[in-house]
Amino acid sequence: MFSFQGENILSVNQLDRDSIEHIFSIAKKMEPYAKKQKRTQVLDGAILANLFFEPSTRTRVSFGTAFNLLGGLVRETTGMQSSALAKGESLYDTARVISAYADAVAMRHPDAGSVAEFATGSDVPVINGGDGPNEHPTQALLDLLTIDRELGRFGAGIDGMHIALVGDLKYGRTVHSLSKLLSHYKDIRFTMVAPDGLQMPQSILDVVDNAGHKVELVSKMEGNLAADIVYQTRIQEERFPSQEEANKYRGGFRISQAIYDAHCKPSSVLMHPLPRDSRSDANELDNDLNNNDNLAIFRQVQNGVLIRMALFALTLGVENQVEKYEVDV
Ligand code: CP
Repeated sequence: MFSFQGENILSVNQLDRDSIEHIFSIAKKMEPYAKKQKRTQVLDGAILANLFFEPSTRTRVSFGTAFNLLGGLVRETTGMQSSALAKGESLYDTARVISAYADAVAMRHPDAGSVAEFATGSDVPVINGGDGPNEHPTQALLDLLTIDRELGRFGAGIDGMHIALVGDLKYGRTVHSLSKLLSHYKDIRFTMVAPDGLQMPQSILDVVDNAGHKVELVSKMEGNLAADIVYQTRIQEERFPSQEEANKYRGGFRISQAIYDAHCKPSSVLMHPLPRDSRSDANELDNDLNNNDNLAIFRQVQNGVLIRMALFALTLGVENQVEKYEVDV
């Protein structure tokens, strides 16, 4: 199993099944603190540097919330232009500086490999909050925890499930990281539903294939959504070579209640890493699904706080001291 204390979390490649399940067991312990039924000051005096050089709502805020819920403080920088990176400072120098101020770093950056490069200069654990089209390991962990919990409602589990990954599988980093994590489980059936040109990269298909899973590549939603989990994604317009190229795919794959009724199973769980693009010409996951009990998107968000609390506790080596530092609610 991965030894978490003092380590960076840069890629899901670092994690095996035992490590994933250990993270989930610590995430479960975090639930009463996240729900504010209990309080802990286990990270009293610790500081998180939350560095977001690319837009984010939930990852940035939930990293900060998770650290605060463990009793720590958060310092943030948002946007490339407001940091010295805009003056030509290297990621290595930035890391040397920031790790002199903080006990842990969470970071998002538009370039693949940038968070790993930053980590070479850091003396404190660095957690990848998304590096360009490459990886988003904490999102994949929260997605997998959500899948486990959602299928648990139907008495099922991750092993043996059928998942349909839908939309922009080329640039969507969350589906890359999630597919790699799922490769540690057994007998998964993957249906990759993407337009020609946005299919899952071969490197990820190889990981899934080599794990012995069944994989089907299809280019239309009709007839291909009757899965236990339907994981929709946004067209990642910001990663296309041009807006003109992105426009070709805009609004191509939309799931609405009518599509759900026609093509999903009555028990299909709908997931999306968010944000969903609610502009009328995109709208890949319609608001008319908001009252569908199987829409898990806001439960994913809650599970994200648990996963990020667990990773801070593990990398800072306090996962067994959380109860010891409880204070009155
Ligand atoms: N899922 C996700 O990464 O959302 P944000 O871009 O809002 O952080």
